[in-house]
Amino acid sequence: MRTPLVAGNWKMNGSHELTRDLLTGLEAGLDPADRAEIMVLPPFPYLTLARSLLVDSAIRLGAQDLSTRPDGAFTGDVSAAMLSDCGCSAVLVGHSERRTLHGETDEVVAEKFSAALAAGLLPILCVGETLEQREQGQTEAVVSRQLAAVLQSAGIAALAQAVVAYEPVWAIGTGRTATPLQAQEVHAAIRAQMSAEDATIGGQVRVLYGGSVKADNAAEIFAQQDIDGGLIGGASLSAESFLAIYRAANQSF
Ligand code: PGA
Repeated sequence: MRTPLVAGNWKMNGSHELTRDLLTGLEAGLDPADRAEIMVLPPFPYLTLARSLLVDSAIRLGAQDLSTRPDGAFTGDVSAAMLSDCGCSAVLVGHSERRTLHGETDEVVAEKFSAALAAGLLPILCVGETLEQREQGQTEAVVSRQLAAVLQSAGIAALAQAVVAYEPVWAIGTGRTATPLQAQEVHAAIRAQMSAEDATIGGQVRVLYGGSVKADNAAEIFAQQDIDGGLIGGASLSAESFLAIYRAANQSF
C-alpha cells in the first residue's frame, strides 16, 4: 500500500505573513485520523520560519530546488545540506519551470537528484511533456527519457527513496488539467518503466500528479490506480483549498 502524499509547491509566492497564516490554518485543519502525508514547499527565505511553526507537526517541509554542488563559490545557490539544516526533508527536482526557465537539462536534474539523496533528502522528481510534445504523440517518450536520465545515473535502488511527480506542462497553472484517464495512462507507463528494472521498487514508488489540481477535481484524479497524491501549485496557497485536496487524498486509500 502506497501512502498518498499531497505536496504544496508555493513557487515564488508568499511572505512572512502568508507563511504564518497558511501554516497555522493548515495545522488547525488536520485530523489525527489523517493517514495521507502532507508537505509544504515554501520559497527559501521562509523555510526557517516554516520550520519553527511546524515543530511537532505532521506537515513535512520541503524546498523547491537545490544546487548540484555541496558548497563553495556558487553565488545564489543553496545546497542540499543547507536545506536539511533548515528543517527540510524533501526537495523538488526538475520542476518544468526550472527546466524551461533556467535551462535545466536531464543531466543537471539527475545531478540534483543525487545531491538531494546524498544529503538524506527525499527528491521529488518532476517529469512531464509540453503541449506540442503531447500533440505530436511524444508524451511517453519524453517522460520516459526524463526518468531514464535519473535511472541511468542514480540507479533503480535510488528511486526507492524518491517520489516521482508527473506534471504535464500544459496543465500547470492553466486551469486545464489532464483527465484522470490521461494522467493514469502516463502514471502507468512511469511505473512500468521502473518495474521493468525492479518490480518491487516499481510497485512501491509514489507517483504524484500535478497540474491544476483543485478541490473539485482532486478526488477523481487521486482515485486512479497509479496516482498516489498530488503536487499542488496555485491551490496550495489557501489553507481551505489545500486541506480540501488533502481530504481527497485521505479518502483515496
Ligand atoms: P498548479 O501548479 O497546481 O498551479 O498548476 C502545479 C505545479 O507546478 O507544481
